[in-house]
Amino acid sequence: MSSSGPVDSDARVIACIPADEGIFRIALEAPRIASACRPGQFAMLEPSPGAFPVSRRPLTFSSCDPEAGSVTFLFDVAGAGTSILSRSVEGDSVRILGPLGRGWETAPGRWLMVAGGLGIAGFPFLLSTADEAVVMAGTRTGRGTSCCPPGTVLATEDGSVGMRGLVTGLLEDVEWDSFDSIAVCGPSAMMRAVVARTPPRVLGRVQVSMESRMGCGWGVCGGCPVPSSRGGFMSCCKDGPVFRACDVDWERIS
Ligand code: FES
Repeated sequence: MSSSGPVDSDARVIACIPADEGIFRIALEAPRIASACRPGQFAMLEPSPGAFPVSRRPLTFSSCDPEAGSVTFLFDVAGAGTSILSRSVEGDSVRILGPLGRGWETAPGRWLMVAGGLGIAGFPFLLSTADEAVVMAGTRTGRGTSCCPPGTVLATEDGSVGMRGLVTGLLEDVEWDSFDSIAVCGPSAMMRAVVARTPPRVLGRVQVSMESRMGCGWGVCGGCPVPSSRGGFMSCCKDGPVFRACDVDWERIS
């Protein structure tokens, strides 16, 4: 791989700590990746390289410190790979390929960031580039809300934290025209609902970060199609995962 492209390397674990129930934050020493990654991009992580036959997991960058040469990721334990990753301790090695994909088109001005579930994971990095932002997040229960940046406006389906209901309920009082850019990240159904509630006049300002089951992470396996509004499909890992909302055919999103 060229020096300007993704880096495939072993990274030293700085720390791996619980961030909420079943959710972990891992910090890795990866100087070349930290100096190149952008908000919204992701990396493929292989826990305990070579020790177990688990495939790499795509994780979005949660934060990045180029001066310290470190990056962090937030992840849910959802299988063997993330379970192994969650047991990492300082000094362990994790194989990492990145940065991959197309991230957020960062721009000056005021941002509205809307997350569903662990879609919040990448927003701290995007927030670090924003002049001003309002962050809204929705979860089923209170689980995961402690991972949200301070000041996040919250909705939970069980009403345990913030407003009772879906994150789309928080959008009812939004003054859409006061935002220069709008970022949405979460499950597909949630993003489709947010896009459906966005006034057509501001839809051109909306970017979405699509979730997909990724095999390779760099456009080879064909396993991450995103239906395009121009017909056919785009690749989530290479053309995205961040897309303009108007470039996605939401009718064909399941
Ligand atoms: S994950 Fe393989 S092509 Fe996208």
